[in-house]
Amino acid sequence: KSAARITALGTYVPERLLLNDDLEKLVDTSDAWIVQRTGIQERHIAADDEFTSHLCVRAVENLRGPGGETVGLEDVDLIIASTTTPDYSFPTVSCRIQKHFGIEDAGAVDLNATCAGFTYALHMANGMITSGLHRKILVVAGETMSKITDYTDRSTCILFGDGAGAALVEYAPDQPGFESAIMGTQGSGGIHVYRSGLSAEMDGEPLAGEGRIVQNGREVFKWAVRTVSAGIEKLLDQAQLTVDDIDWFVPHSANLRMIESICEKSGIPLAKTLQSVTEMGNTSSASIPLALQAGVRAGQLNPGDRVLLYGFGSGLTHCGLLIRW
Ligand code: ACO
Repeated sequence: KSAARITALGTYVPERLLLNDDLEKLVDTSDAWIVQRTGIQERHIAADDEFTSHLCVRAVENLRGPGGETVGLEDVDLIIASTTTPDYSFPTVSCRIQKHFGIEDAGAVDLNATCAGFTYALHMANGMITSGLHRKILVVAGETMSKITDYTDRSTCILFGDGAGAALVEYAPDQPGFESAIMGTQGSGGIHVYRSGLSAEMDGEPLAGEGRIVQNGREVFKWAVRTVSAGIEKLLDQAQLTVDDIDWFVPHSANLRMIESICEKSGIPLAKTLQSVTEMGNTSSASIPLALQAGVRAGQLNPGDRVLLYGFGSGLTHCGLLIRW
């Protein structure tokens, strides 16, 4: 049984916009194709000197409680930063966040579960607090996908955007917010979406892209729809709930068509879905907190709502959580 809940949310996206019209000038594509195949209308792109830790710091500055109140970071005892695009290989983004805010006596660790990173980080924060080892954990998911996007590849460059989201997870034994979790991995699908690193081969296959994102979009699409809809079914069974018990579904915002397919397969009305893909593109692990923020701002997401979060991405790996907002 959980003893933790999310007590505050903050987000940030860079000012610079990259429109579909701008992409038409870079590659052979069209606004109509992008909107029809992905639902994406625009995305925010970091400035040349703006990196993931900068976006994360702004998201933490924007943290607000349920009544819009600012929150203190004094007693934070662990910082977990989720990112696939850290400023440096090391030191980590979580250490940069600690330095900026001067949070004392806090551990700091980065986690990389690609686009599923925010749900994994929340799951771990819940576990750490429920175990009694920690009391107040700052979870931050930030990405500058534009820095690793190949703007000559029309099948990837239309998708990605930059942004960050932060959540405070606190000890709350009387009002626990985490109800159930599910996760799974298919490492054999690693080749379907990757960015090369120290090694330039995977399972005997040479890697392309020279440090930029490479993907077989169709394979990722099919895997995500199949896996996430099966995961939702298991998660609901496990919690002895049905889709009617869910107030909001917040999947990773990769592609609007993908969200529509998952909803259709799972019997979740699209109207119960919060997403950030239309206005922000695929911001990897930042996409779920950005979608939650959209729901808060629109007055849709309210305290006590039951929310189904579902992260999925390269790995291939996925993590779904049932929470109370
Ligand atoms: N503009 C115009 N045409 C395009 C574009 C474009 N931007 N991109 C691809 N096409 C063309 C292709 O070349 C292909 O043409 P062909 O039939 O002549 O070969 C045609 O459109 C269809 O291509 P598909 O790849 O089948 O198109 P699809 O409808 O699947 O859409 C997309 C492609 C948008 C990439 C989709 O597959 C997708 O979103 N997949 C999921 C990607 C994803 O979520 N990745 C997340 C990983 S991020 C991470 O984990 C770090």
